[in-house]
Amino acid sequence: MPTLTIDGREIAVAPGATLLQACEEAGREIPRFCYHERLSIAGNCRMCLVELERSPKPVASCAMPAADGMVVRTESPMARRAREGAMEFLLINHPLDCPVCDQGGECDLQDQALGYGRAGSRYAENKRAVAGKDFGPLVETHMTRCIHCTRCVRFMEEVAGAPELGGLFRGEDMEIATVPEGGLGSELSGNIVDLCPVGALTSKPYAFTARPWELRKTETVDVLDAAGSNIRIDARGREIMRVLPRLNEAVNEEWIADKTRHAHDGLRRQRLDRPWMRGADGRLRPAEWDEAFAAIAARLGDGARFGAVAGDLCDAEAMCALRDLAEALGSPHLDCRQDGARLPAAPRAAYLFNTTIAGIEDADLCLLAGTDPRWEAPVINQRIRKRWRAGGFAAASIGPARDLTYPVETLGAGPETLAEIAAGTHPFSAALERAERPMIVLGMGALARPDGAAVLALGHEIAERYRLVRDGWNGFNVLHTAAARVGGLDLGLVPGEGGLDAAGMARAIRSGGLDILYLLGADELDTGASGGGLVVYQGHHGDRGAHRADVVLPGAAYTEKPGTYVNTEGRPQRAQRAAFPPGGAREDWTIIRALSGALGKPLPCDDLPALRRRMAALSPHFSRIDEAAPADWRPFGKAGALDPASFAPAVTDYYMTDPIGRASETMARCSRAFAGLAAARLGKR
Ligand code: SF4
Ligand code: SF4
Ligand code: FES
Repeated sequence: MPTLTIDGREIAVAPGATLLQACEEAGREIPRFCYHERLSIAGNCRMCLVELERSPKPVASCAMPAADGMVVRTESPMARRAREGAMEFLLINHPLDCPVCDQGGECDLQDQALGYGRAGSRYAENKRAVAGKDFGPLVETHMTRCIHCTRCVRFMEEVAGAPELGGLFRGEDMEIATVPEGGLGSELSGNIVDLCPVGALTSKPYAFTARPWELRKTETVDVLDAAGSNIRIDARGREIMRVLPRLNEAVNEEWIADKTRHAHDGLRRQRLDRPWMRGADGRLRPAEWDEAFAAIAARLGDGARFGAVAGDLCDAEAMCALRDLAEALGSPHLDCRQDGARLPAAPRAAYLFNTTIAGIEDADLCLLAGTDPRWEAPVINQRIRKRWRAGGFAAASIGPARDLTYPVETLGAGPETLAEIAAGTHPFSAALERAERPMIVLGMGALARPDGAAVLALGHEIAERYRLVRDGWNGFNVLHTAAARVGGLDLGLVPGEGGLDAAGMARAIRSGGLDILYLLGADELDTGASGGGLVVYQGHHGDRGAHRADVVLPGAAYTEKPGTYVNTEGRPQRAQRAAFPPGGAREDWTIIRALSGALGKPLPCDDLPALRRRMAALSPHFSRIDEAAPADWRPFGKAGALDPASFAPAVTDYYMTDPIGRASETMARCSRAFAGLAAARLGKR
């Protein structure tokens, strides 16, 4: 380990560390613009200059490896003058935009100019101006403010895998631009706004709407995919102004997907803020809570003719209450798999991403079956790309070919290829045999189909045959698309003995086989024109579910209630309330609790702590918040006939997967802007 002296203090650092990292370890703060710990080193802003003994000039500490015996001074007159000089040059062309700049109040350039710059300016020359660029519906550009740190260029190339940004021209004429011109077609593009140290790249939907000091910050989790990205929500009053990533090395590192970041304007539109009931004329009319509950109670005869389906954005608390209500009524008709995924509620290993998201970095081979992780969970796809960039890793897929931002060998289209691999007759079998840390990822494209249980059994067979589960390693994975799914399976929201699944309930409510179908945020289930049965929809948006329902009960969205969500790895995480729900909408579990009283079967849990104790009793994982506990490996899946049809994509429009996205104007703009790109990705074979 190299040992060096920094400001008189001797310190040993890991081999390969840079001088900047060594200075940080010694507790010295080094200003920087271009350096970022997750990007390659560019060394082009010169803000990190330090004095190095026996060097005639100050050195850029981010680009200089720490070596034995170095003597470094970070606060000497030479280092200070060097930084003042770098700052002076950066500001020569920088506009005096602070009062109208969205970065104001959280700007690295403002902060560092104050801490490390000169007190005055010696320049009276005209400043250069650069025309703004069109980066699409999400990223606003003010390129006159750009300091050419190239963080955005490196992020797009290295992390997002969409090398669409580059530097044009040289010296004073240099400009950052898209190559070719047009919007950024990456689902991770919003991260460049966080990375830009100045106000050259800002969020287009957030432009000129708020100042950071006006905002109330709430740390919570995202539910718009099943990765469980950690986020911070900034709200003003009842309005969500922006969503930013929160660092969690085990889940999303410091990145979030564009839908996670920008779909929140959908929380302002098409909201349900009071109960509604369908009148004799077939139109929905406003109603009171008691009236709505009474209508449900009036239709409830035999409790066994009650069916319930939990949707994709439900919190575990509401699902637990729904499960207990169905149990109290004596109904076996319960499901949390509205897309028809043939997943069992046990063993847990059968429905988890067992490798864990961070564990992807230890894999050396990945087989994707019926999944497009780039659209189903962009931060997980980014991890796979990160692993590929590190070398010694290969990926293959079964299903429609896609540009996943790393090379993927397409092995086949449907379950028959998976069967050949399970039988050891496919050429890819040799690679699986050789791999030391192989992993398989089954997506909803493979499991949400009539032969899904047989496909799952093939996955188990492959895991056994190629020893995907070995000492300290579990390479069997299911990639969910719904944030509620793992929590629902943990709580046992699957049909009981003789019970109907989601599709069976949709058929039964049409044919009169059920009296009541209770849709808890289940918008993707087609109940058609219901027959004699009563369809109740409880949710936050007047989306597909509400349009077909006879009684509509207004619930709270994920930003408006404390809730527990279990991500695809099986990691329970707590969401917090960032704003209150609109009008008369309530937290979902309280609605079910109140309804249970109206139905004469009051649930025993009267408050959130009691409900959470009940959840932990049903599944002990709920008491280990933020932990992705390894699941026991036991047999699962049921061998059966395979349908030769290709695996179909689970997500066809990344921006429109849920009621919030469908209500969001920003997501609609993205969907339109990137339709061509989407078609190219979907059509590519
Ligand atoms: Fe001011 Fe920073 Fe904006 Fe430049 S980037 S105008 S320093 S707030
Ligand atoms: Fe750096 Fe921002 Fe300019 Fe990109 S746009 S090079 S991140 S200053
Ligand atoms: Fe070292 Fe930019 S941070 S040169």
